[in-house]
Amino acid sequence: MFEEAQYFAPVESRSDGSVVVELAASHPGFADPVYRERRNAIAGLAVNHRRGEPIPAAEYTEREHGIWSLVTKELAIKHAIYATAEYRHGAARLGLPEDRIPQLEEVSRLLEPLTGFRYLPAAGLVPLRDFYGVLADGYFHSTQYIRHHSVPFYTPEPDVIHEVIGHANALASDRYAALYHLAGEAARRVESDEALEFVSKIFWFTLEFGVMAEKGELMAYGAGILSSYGEIEEFRGMDIRPLDLGAMGTTHYDITKYQDVLFRADSLEHLEDVVGDFWATCDDDTIAKLAHSST
Ligand SMILES: [Fe+2]
Repeated sequence: MFEEAQYFAPVESRSDGSVVVELAASHPGFADPVYRERRNAIAGLAVNHRRGEPIPAAEYTEREHGIWSLVTKELAIKHAIYATAEYRHGAARLGLPEDRIPQLEEVSRLLEPLTGFRYLPAAGLVPLRDFYGVLADGYFHSTQYIRHHSVPFYTPEPDVIHEVIGHANALASDRYAALYHLAGEAARRVESDEALEFVSKIFWFTLEFGVMAEKGELMAYGAGILSSYGEIEEFRGMDIRPLDLGAMGTTHYDITKYQDVLFRADSLEHLEDVVGDFWATCDDDTIAKLAHSST
């Protein structure tokens, strides 16, 4: 997904039909040939998948299911303290398994009756326009691999824990799902790459890293915070700014570190009014004006 793509491992499809994920030397799984083989196989599932077909099951080891179980338990404790009520409502409706990694097909089966959203497998980077555009059709692109077992609470790239715990629980809420949908419509509507980037940055500072006032506390609803064992403990101490379209659409961020500038909505209604209405109506002209007025 957009700038997040900077730290997606590149995926290469070779002429012999094999698919190879190029892990960086700093990746925790770099020196583990068994993990790398599994990453290649899982990437191959996404490369060969055609929309409308069932998503092939990824093979996970018992140790990997254990990572999911461990992280799920720890995050649930933190969600009770730091996640918005609407996100927790989505999580309760969705009922993800706690003891094993769900297959993406299973996530779709749980999600679709609730809000119509289905998952699509992604090998790695999905081009910006496609990643956002298909949200308008009720599809969410998701990686399928899980982080390396040596560092259960860390991943240098978005893995199935981020995609499913962070995003699917939010997509199970009617109100958040409606916002994802509107982001997709905006991405389809805008024409220039600059306008698309602006739309994607608003997504970044809301549905990925958004925070919100709730009963006098600062709570998180962004998938990036809610799926990160470390970041969820830190976000209240960051530079918290008021929700501002021009600022969000033009603020630079560094994907490789904890997000130190966050934007706070006063409430879910406030988020829907400001960001939902923006995505519902924006075009290249309104975005150019917003970008200009904030510089
Ligand atoms: Fe994400």
